[in-house]
Amino acid sequence: MGEVVEGVAVRDARSADLPFIKLMLYEAANRPGEAWPSFEESMEELRNRRFWFNFARDGDIGVVAETAHEPIGAAWIRRFGGEEKGPLDDPDVPVLAIGVVEQWRGRGVGTLLMRSLLDRARRSGVAAIDLTTGAFNEAGVRLYYASGFVDTGRFGDAIRMRARLATLMPATTRPRYRWRARPGRSWR
Ligand SMILES: CC(C)(COP(=O)(O)OP(=O)(O)OC[C@H]1O[C@@H](n2cnc3c(N)ncnc32)[C@H](O)[C@@H]1OP(=O)(O)O)[C@@H](O)C(=O)NCCC(=O)NCCS
Repeated sequence: MGEVVEGVAVRDARSADLPFIKLMLYEAANRPGEAWPSFEESMEELRNRRFWFNFARDGDIGVVAETAHEPIGAAWIRRFGGEEKGPLDDPDVPVLAIGVVEQWRGRGVGTLLMRSLLDRARRSGVAAIDLTTGAFNEAGVRLYYASGFVDTGRFGDAIRMRARLATLMPATTRPRYRWRARPGRSWR
């Protein structure tokens, strides 16, 4: 039984969710305001293919948020080794991907997905989760900081972050950390 918030339930992701997982990855992997490659091209880029190929394979942990009618968001983690491993990846530390259908963004679905995913990961004995995001991705950066991720590196406008689950308090007891824009920068 998943958590329910305002008509949205969260459940474990399964192999049959792969088409939706890919749609969410397409949103997560491409930058607003730029020309995007076609969906097929984007999914075949190694940096993206590694996030969906053979989903759900051993070690994958994922969640899907859905209404009574359709899926509206997904978050999942997987480890990368061999040719899938990027220069920043640790084969022992799974990497996160998350996406919410555009019309549903800004309504708490990402927060709900993240909370559910972190709970499942912690219960499965995952010690840490990594991710890479764009510094321009205000919703993502806010969500990650609020979920307990901390910066581990900056590369151009990309931020690498890690959440250490063993030391992370459950979301319900953690004080809210709010990310403030640097002086002179406006976000809205
Ligand atoms: C990033 C994403 C998953 C967040 O999901 P969401 O459902 O919109 O998130 P929530 O509604 O739970 O909000 C999370 C935080 O982002 C903030 N936020 C949401 N939309 C925002 C927006 N358009 N601008 C600024 N902040 C925003 C919220 O205020 C909240 O921060 P707070 O708790 O400090 O107030 C979603 O925006 C998305 O799918 N984006 C496209 C794909 C993507 O970028 N994936 C991540 C790639 S690294």
